[in-house]
Amino acid sequence: MWPYPRIVAHRGGGKLAPENTLAGFRTGLARGFRAVEFDVMLARDGVPVVMHDPFLGRTVNGRGNVYDYDAAELTRMDAGSWFGADFTQETVPLYTEVVAFCKANGIWMNVELKPAPGYEAETGRVVGELTRALFGPEIAQDDVRLLPLFSSFQPAALETAREAAPDIPHGLLLKETIPDWETLARSLGAAAIHHNHVTLDPATAAAIKQAGFGLFCYTVNEPQRARELLAWGVDGFCTDRLDLIGPDFA
Ligand code: G3P
Ligand code: MG
Repeated sequence: MWPYPRIVAHRGGGKLAPENTLAGFRTGLARGFRAVEFDVMLARDGVPVVMHDPFLGRTVNGRGNVYDYDAAELTRMDAGSWFGADFTQETVPLYTEVVAFCKANGIWMNVELKPAPGYEAETGRVVGELTRALFGPEIAQDDVRLLPLFSSFQPAALETAREAAPDIPHGLLLKETIPDWETLARSLGAAAIHHNHVTLDPATAAAIKQAGFGLFCYTVNEPQRARELLAWGVDGFCTDRLDLIGPDFA
């Protein structure tokens, strides 16, 4: 049900490096992480980039929306200065660059489809098609551990990703438990539920497991809470605190 690593570095390097940058991915790797979560959305020209916010200003120097710029423009923008003077060379990475880095270093990927509003279906389709092309040899090996896992809060993105890349598994992200979570997850063909740990309770955790889904939590930054969730049967979680919760955390 969860054949992947249990502890996953959130947005590349968690809070130890600028999020969703190659410096972040290198930081996670240096800390021994072999599993990472990151966010993907489309630039104006339809090229997927690794970015959390649909707007510039918080982590990337600039103004406006991500979809106001082509990918080539975004990949020249400063995505590290907000974090610290050591990271002024960091830029917005392309999805393909991050996949190449992770594949080269044996890092498993939880690819969160993070569409800008109105681009849900297109984002799932484009990222699905590209991922299917990038992972053709791995798909042929029929070992799900070699493949990324898509996740999204947006069912429309998961639907089109599934159509475009039926072999790539996906998880439904939930900020809180919704009454029809099981029906929705089944209709999407989801392999897992990715639940906000703050709104999860032990009975719901048990029900999700009982229903046969993997159960992943975000974003768990306190070791004591992490132990509690694992005791509830949570299969894995992502963390920002790579310094407190290492890849072999138990
Ligand atoms: O995928 C888990 C987590 O990343 C979801 O929330 O806002 O950090 O992307 P967010
Ligand atoms: Mg995310």
